[in-house]
Amino acid sequence: MSGYALDNSWEHANRRLALLEQMLDPMTERRIKMLGVGQGARCLEVAAGSGSIAKWLCEQVGQTGSVMATDINTTLLDEIRLPNLEVQQHDIVKSELPASAFDFVHARWILHHLREPERAIRRMVDALRPSGWLLLEEVDFFPVHASSSDVIREFMVALVNTVVKASGRDCFWARILPETVAAMGLAQVGGEGEFPVIQGGSPAAEFFELTAVQMRDQLLATSALPLSRLDQALQLLKSPDLWAFGGGNIAVWGQRSAT
Ligand SMILES: C[S@@+](CC[C@H](N)C(=O)[O-])C[C@H]1O[C@@H](n2cnc3c(N)ncnc32)[C@H](O)[C@@H]1O
Repeated sequence: MSGYALDNSWEHANRRLALLEQMLDPMTERRIKMLGVGQGARCLEVAAGSGSIAKWLCEQVGQTGSVMATDINTTLLDEIRLPNLEVQQHDIVKSELPASAFDFVHARWILHHLREPERAIRRMVDALRPSGWLLLEEVDFFPVHASSSDVIREFMVALVNTVVKASGRDCFWARILPETVAAMGLAQVGGEGEFPVIQGGSPAAEFFELTAVQMRDQLLATSALPLSRLDQALQLLKSPDLWAFGGGNIAVWGQRSAT
């Protein structure tokens, strides 16, 4: 699994990814509309997870368009039946993509897990047709340092560092996404960012709780977070009195030249 720590075959993976989608989809959909992706477009959704954006894209592009959704583990995509959707098992680290094939290529919350994100971005750029758009959305956890709760700060940093450990990175990579995309020779490169303010008991809080449950053994093995502190954080994440900052979502887009 290329060192990816949060296997989609886990029994609660669908719920966990649905919570992520709930948190991020409105912003992703707004950006895709802004880029003008519509009827007839051929789209590629890389590392599609449980597929909410792939499904939404199928509606946007209609019967004259198409969507290819790839993931290293397609367990959660295989049940989706839509006439203009094709699901393919694909490892963005190891395998090429169809060249110059898509009007729109999107990937969200995958590059920070990879040892060589630049290589994956190059693959996605090469998959664009002339005038096609790339949209990448990645998380940088800098806002967690500003959370008022020591317990949550410590928990978040330990958790996300454990998740991305296999990639040899930390959870503060996405800040270089704009210059990384700009170096790929695309035109009209632009970007924006936002971060969620998380209340205990909310869907966003449950996402981080479930991530910690899935990563529990590895997290405790790092000794970055003692068990008592983990339990305290999990309690806080259920409490409506908690207000904390989640990871910063950095979005960057760019267009392949017309020739
Ligand atoms: C954090 S989830 C994000 C899912 C989806 N992009 C979203 O934002 O809702 C990361 C996804 O990347 C997939 N993944 C991990 N390593 C991958 C790789 N090397 N190639 C393709 N997909 C990969 C995982 O299986 C998982 O579905």
